[in-house]
This record gives sequence, structure tokens and C-alpha cells, in this order.
Amino acid sequence: MRSGRLAAIGLLLAGSVGLGAAALAQAPGFDPIRTRQVGQLLVLGSFVGMREAVKHHQPVKPFAEPAMAISHWMDQYASLFPPGSDKGDNTKARPAIWKNFARFQKDAADASAAAKKLAMLAKAEDTAGFAAQLKVLGGTCGTCHKAFRAK
Ligand code: HEC
Repeated sequence: MRSGRLAAIGLLLAGSVGLGAAALAQAPGFDPIRTRQVGQLLVLGSFVGMREAVKHHQPVKPFAEPAMAISHWMDQYASLFPPGSDKGDNTKARPAIWKNFARFQKDAADASAAAKKLAMLAKAEDTAGFAAQLKVLGGTCGTCHKAFRAK
């Protein structure tokens, strides 16, 4: 009796969670251009924090999660450039992205890999390794911007 009721509640909950997810996926107003732009500003925020920490010889361990977040973000990044998102919201995305999407995806994957390695070095409290790898990550930003972001 009791377990039957619990199961019913469970089903109800599962149902509403499912509905919630469906409603979210269909929420009007999702804007891939603004999403990717604001995301990059947050990436920059983390990056600047890391650079300052290195400069002032601060512990690097607290940056393990922000570095991992950059890696996960870069795994998703190319999906925020659907066809047709080359115009509007003052986008700086260059048409080259859609002409050479494989290269764009590779640049994002390189940034993801660099950030993941950075996260490992932070976790290991390897300050010197972190400082060197932060430059590698910065290089991946520059490589992609040079090819795919307008000035
Ligand atoms: C795979 C390519 C790629 C990589 C890697 C990349 N970016 Fe970008 N970034 C872009 C593109 C394209 C834009 C322009 C997006 C738009 O305007 O629609 C952009 C925009 C930005 C902006 C401007 C956001 C705004 O609208 O004001 C900042 C800041 C930024 N990136 C920082 C970084 C940093 C820091 C890194 C490295 C940790 C990085 N990016 C790595 C492609 C990349």
C-alpha cells in the first residue's frame, strides 16, 4: 500500500520533471549569439583571475574547477554557432566559421584539451606547470580569434 503510494508520487515527480525539461527546451527567446558572447565574457573573467593569481604567486588549486568549466564550455561551444547565426547582436563571428566548421571545431577542441590539462595542474598544485599551461590555453584563444573572430 505504502510503496504503491510512494511509487505513484515518484511517477508524478518524474512526470513534472520531464515536463519541466521539455518546457525549458522550448522556452522562447533562446539566443545562441548572446549566449556564446556572454559565455566568452565569463571565460575571460576566469582567465583574468588565473593570470592575476600567477602574477601574484597565489595558490592555483582554487582554479581547478573554473579551468574544467572552460574545458566543458569549449566542448559545447561550436553548437552555439548554428547556421544563420552569422548576423545580428553585433556578432563578431566571421563567415569563415561556416566555411570551415571542422577547423573551428578543432580549435574549440584544442582549447578544451588545454583547459583540461590546466585543471589537472591546478589540482596537483603545480604552480609552475599551471603558469606555463595558462600560456598554452591563451594561445588557443588567440589561434581561434585570429581565424574566426572579427576585430
Ligand atoms: C573555437 C574558437 C574560439 C576559442 C577557442 C576562443 N574563442 Fe573567444 N570568441 C570566438 C568567437 C567566434 C567570438 C565572437 C562571438 C560572437 O560575437 O558571436 C569570440 C568572442 C570572445 C570574446 C568577446 C565576447 C563579447 O561578445 O564581448 C571574449 C572576451 C573571448 N572570446 C574570450 C576568449 C578567451 C579568453 C578564450 C580562451 C580561453 C577564447 N575566447 C577562446 C571564438 C573562440
